[in-house]
Parts: sequence; C-alpha cells; structure tokens
Amino acid sequence: MQKSQAYIPCKTNVLNETKHSVSRMTPTIEYRRGSVDDLSKLRLTSDLSVTPASIEFNVIGAGHEFWIATTDDEIVGLTVLASTTRAQHTILYLNVSAAHKSRGVGSTLIRAVIESYPESEFAVIPLDGTEEFYRRLGFVKTKKWEMRRPPSPPQR
Ligand SMILES: CC(C)(COP(=O)(O)OP(=O)(O)OC[C@H]1O[C@@H](n2cnc3c(N)ncnc32)[C@H](O)[C@@H]1OP(=O)(O)O)[C@@H](O)C(=O)NCCC(=O)NCCS
Repeated sequence: MQKSQAYIPCKTNVLNETKHSVSRMTPTIEYRRGSVDDLSKLRLTSDLSVTPASIEFNVIGAGHEFWIATTDDEIVGLTVLASTTRAQHTILYLNVSAAHKSRGVGSTLIRAVIESYPESEFAVIPLDGTEEFYRRLGFVKTKKWEMRRPPSPPQR
C-alpha cells in the first residue's frame, strides 16, 4: 500500500482542540483519506454543499482524492486535492460544517494531508478571509490569488 493511501493515525478529540467549552459528548474526529465506501457508509453534513454523487463524479471520476474529518457516522469536514505529481498538490476545495467550525477541524484536516505528502508542495487559491488560516499552516502568498506551502523538511 502506498503511503498516500494509508489511513493515517491522525485522530483527535475536538475537546482538546477547541478554545471554547464544548459538550463532553463531543465525538472523536478522525482525519483520513476518503474512499468510495465512505460515501455509502457515512452521512455528509448537508452544509458541506456536496453529495456522494458529486464526489464520485467530480472528484474520484476526475482522478482527484478527497480527505475527510469524520465522526463515527458523519463527514463533518472535507477537502479535495488535485495532484499533478506526488510532489505537487493543489487544494481544490475545503469546507467544515458550521457546527464544527473554529474548533481546529479544518487545520487538522489540512495538516493530516500535508503530513501524508511531506515531499510535496501545496498550492491553494484561498477564499476571501481564509489567508490567515493558510498562513498558520505554512502557506505564503506567491501570486495575487495564490498561496503555496513548500515541502516539509525531512524528519531527523
Ligand atoms: C476555512 C475553514 C475550512 C476553516 O475551518 P475551521 O475548522 O473553522 O478552521 P480552524 O478551527 O482550524 O481554524 C480557525 C481559524 O482560521 C481562521 N479562519 C478560518 N476561516 C476564516 C474566515 N472566513 N475569515 C477569517 N478567518 C478565518 C481564523 O483565524 C480562525 O480562528 P478563530 O476561529 O479563532 O477565528 C472553514 O471556516 C470553512 O469551511 N469555511 C467556509 C469555506 C471556506 O472558506 N473554505 C476555504 C476554501 S479555500
């Protein structure tokens, strides 16, 4: 199995991530690459504005990959990646459900992706207002609309 296909052990409990107090019932969130199976087994939170069919057709069908932040039965965060090569990825889409925003879900999801491709450069065209979000993840502005993150230095 290629490293990129592995389900990475990137689990965290939102309770530890949030600055605000949240219910003790907050479920554990797992961050991993999504599969076709996930689309039939897990519910997609409606405010992510995508459907299983649109992911299957527009993402998997186009040769892209998607990563999910998921509770036991629901996808609460989603990102779509295009890869030109293993050394070049573009974040095409990122969305976190309203109920889970500002709790570290988006940044943990992107970190999981970056850790899975340490030799890759990442590019994104940030939506208005999200530049700071990406800056904190190591992205820098390279063009008027574009931000890039260089490959992660090798671990010693
Ligand atoms: C952007 C987004 C993915 C971030 O996910 P998240 O889980 O809320 O992010 P995190 O909790 O890891 O980090 C939150 C921090 O990111 C920054 N941030 C995120 N979105 C922001 C926005 N629209 N405007 C300003 N700052 C923003 C803030 O610093 C925020 O910290 P705060 O909550 O203390 O204000 C999420 O807000 C979202 O789905 N937004 C709508 C879609 C979108 O803009 N996608 C980006 C596509 S390029």
